[in-house]
Amino acid sequence: MKTYNWGIIGTGFIGQKLAEALAFVPQSKVYAVASRNIETANIFAEKYNCKAYGTYEELANDPEVDIIHIATPHNLHCENTLMCLNKGKHVLCEKPFAINGKEVRKMIDAAKANNVFLMDALWTRFNPNIIKVKKILDSGILGKVTLLKTDFGERKPYHPENRFFSKELTGGSLIDMGIYPLFVSIFMLGKPTKITATAGIGKTGVDTNTSFVLGYDDDKLAVISSSIVADTESAATIYCEKGHIHMSQYIYAPAKISIKMLDGESEDITEKLVGNIYNYEAVEVIECLEKGKIQSDKMSWEDTLVIIDSLDEIRRQIGLVFDAHDL
Ligand SMILES: NC(=O)c1ccc[n+]([C@@H]2O[C@H](COP(=O)([O-])OP(=O)(O)OC[C@H]3O[C@@H](n4cnc5c(N)ncnc54)[C@H](OP(=O)(O)O)[C@@H]3O)[C@@H](O)[C@H]2O)c1
Repeated sequence: MKTYNWGIIGTGFIGQKLAEALAFVPQSKVYAVASRNIETANIFAEKYNCKAYGTYEELANDPEVDIIHIATPHNLHCENTLMCLNKGKHVLCEKPFAINGKEVRKMIDAAKANNVFLMDALWTRFNPNIIKVKKILDSGILGKVTLLKTDFGERKPYHPENRFFSKELTGGSLIDMGIYPLFVSIFMLGKPTKITATAGIGKTGVDTNTSFVLGYDDDKLAVISSSIVADTESAATIYCEKGHIHMSQYIYAPAKISIKMLDGESEDITEKLVGNIYNYEAVEVIECLEKGKIQSDKMSWEDTLVIIDSLDEIRRQIGLVFDAHDL
C-alpha cells in the first residue's frame, strides 16, 4: 500500500495543525516542510521529524513529495498553489481558497492542465457533526427549514499590520471568518438566489463587522455575521417546522449539537471525534488519490466556486476591493 508524502508550505498555526493531524490519517507521512527561512523550517522539522527547506520552491521541486498543504496567508494561496500544481504536485490549499473567483478559476485550470488533485481545506465540510446535521435536515424529520442564524466573531488584538486588519494581507472579518458561517449556511440550505450585505469598514480599510443575508426561492433566509472586533456566540441555529438544531461554539467545529422539538423534547446528538479534526479533510485527500481522482465530490471545485463567488458578491456590495488581486 502506498504511503503518501506530505509537504507543508508555511510553518504557522495551521501548518502545525495539519502536521499533527496526519498521525490520524492512513497512508500519510509528514515528509517535508518549507519556510521562508531555513531556521524556522528546521525548528518545525525537528518537532515533526521531517525534511526542511528554506524556500517554498525547493519543497515543490522534491520528487518524493506527493501532496502539498498550502498554509500561508490568504494573499499567497493562489500564487503558492499554482507553483505547486505546475510542478505536478497534488494540493490541499487553506481557506479562503483564494481571494476571488478569478484566482480560483486559474487554480482549477492549472489542476486540470497538470492532471493533479486540488481541494479547498475548508475542514468544516468533513466534520462528522456537521455532516450529521445535514443528514438530519435532508431526512425531513424536522420538516422544512424556516430560518438559519449563524455568526463567527472574535475580538482580535488590533495591529494595522496583522493579517486580520491589514488590507495588503487581504484582511477583514468576511473572508477569514465569515467564510465559515457562509459555508455552513450554503452546505445546509444550498446555493442562495439572492445575497444582501452591509459592513462596518475600520480605519485600515477592511471590514471589521460584516452582516449578510442569503435569500432563497421560498421564504427561508440565512442571517449571518462576522466580526474581528466582537466576541460573538459563533454558533448556529437552524429553525425548522417541527423544531430546531443548535450547533454551539464554534461554528467551524461545533462542541455540541442539540435538537429541540417544538413540544420541548430535546436531545444531545454530538458525535465523539478523533484526532484534532483536521484529519478528516486529509483522509478525503488520500481517498480521492487512491481512486485516481483530481477533485473531491464532497468539496468539489464547484462547491468552492459557490463560496468564493458569494464572497465576491458580498465584497462588491460592501465596497471592499483588494487592489493587487481584484484589479
Ligand atoms: N482551516 C482552519 O481552521 C484555519 C485556521 C487558521 C488559519 N487558517 C488559514 O490558514 C492560513 C494561514 O493561517 P495561520 O493562522 O496558520 O497563519 P500564521 O500562523 O501566521 O502562519 C502563516 C505562515 O505563512 C508563512 N508566510 C509567508 N508569507 C508570510 C507573510 N507575509 N506574513 C506572515 N506569514 C507568512 C509563514 O511561514 P514561514 O515563515 O515558515 O514561511 C507563516 O508561519 C490563512 O489563510 C488562514 O485563513 C485556516
